[in-house]
Amino acid sequence: MPTLQTKLPKVGTTIFTVMSQLAAEHGAVNLGQGFPDFPVPDRLVQSLEAAMRAGHNQYAPMTGIPALRQAIAAKALRCYGAQVDAESEITVTSGATEAIFNAVHAVVRPGDEVIVLDPAYDCYEPAIDLAGARAVHIPLDPQTFAVDWERVRAAITPRTRLIMINSPHNPSGAMFSAEDMRALAELLRETDIFLLSDEVYEHIVFDGRRHESVLRWPELRARAFVVSSFGKTYHCTGWKIGYAIAPPALSAEFRKVHQYNVFCTFAPAQHAFAAMLSQEPEHDEQLGAFYQAKRDRFRQQLLGTRLKPLDVPGGYFQLVDYSTVSDLPDLEFVKWLTIEHGVTAIPLSPFYETPPAGQRLARLCFAKNTATLDAAIERLAKL
Ligand SMILES: Cc1ncc(COP(=O)(O)O)c(C=O)c1O
Repeated sequence: MPTLQTKLPKVGTTIFTVMSQLAAEHGAVNLGQGFPDFPVPDRLVQSLEAAMRAGHNQYAPMTGIPALRQAIAAKALRCYGAQVDAESEITVTSGATEAIFNAVHAVVRPGDEVIVLDPAYDCYEPAIDLAGARAVHIPLDPQTFAVDWERVRAAITPRTRLIMINSPHNPSGAMFSAEDMRALAELLRETDIFLLSDEVYEHIVFDGRRHESVLRWPELRARAFVVSSFGKTYHCTGWKIGYAIAPPALSAEFRKVHQYNVFCTFAPAQHAFAAMLSQEPEHDEQLGAFYQAKRDRFRQQLLGTRLKPLDVPGGYFQLVDYSTVSDLPDLEFVKWLTIEHGVTAIPLSPFYETPPAGQRLARLCFAKNTATLDAAIERLAKL
């Protein structure tokens, strides 16, 4: 047996797997891992079946089928006024996770630094580590999850190669404002730093707010990979289909990684999404209202418990402050909540390099049926 030296010493079992297992063991209502428990749109399932029966079961083109890339370009124009070239700027990937991995490996070299805003989604740092680079973690405000751009500026060095942003944000739901986008553009203007914008919750925005996609900001777009996922928009996280939009030169490098990572993405689903996007474009326009109704109802119910819900501008997660219920650190609190009260949440500390001292927040996913949320509330009301 050769000596095995892990390349990812910090990686263990993800908190999502740990908490889902604990939820199953204790028969808890699982509001932990972020996935909907309601069905995929009928049209999408029918289109998937039709694609398989029509024989679209062999390798797709490496970059994605033209009909889907054209539908994504049409969506970028409709939603963000962005002219995107389907041929040279869009690549269909196996989920946003693959797109993030490819983008990092396309531009980040050993010894580089990558700025990550904490709390951050868990797939960012392993991709950076595998590229031989170093993640430089900048904390967001522990209550509002706003970015301190001066702190970001102070973290930039000649080695900084990439900055990763995520709006609407997982786990907080915070969204970048136009002012944030201007600050970011100003910060990057005289630098050689690329941008990776994780926009998987782009259509889940509330209260009439505007999603500040990087696609709306030409100066930023010129140096960016914009990543999204159909899993979040069409309630099918298990299908793992996403895409990256980037200028031609960046897309060319991105595709070199994609080509030898997966080569191409599940062909029948690409046909199904191409049909869905062109035949039912209103689906993504209605998604905000669909989730806002869930957020409002869940939030109202939480106000009747001892948990304090924070504001949620976008995404499908509700942060709650549990400090009036318990002084346990968050990982212990969510385990206690699962075992003793039968509701599973996700702690925030695994999303940080250095969790803020004394933070007492947990994340609940409200992408669930009313019955699931009601069952959770019934239990949380007893805290
Ligand atoms: C912020 C964020 N980025 C990326 C992903 C991964 O998306 P996908 O399932 O399409 O790989 C998720 C999934 O939860 C996420 O929350």
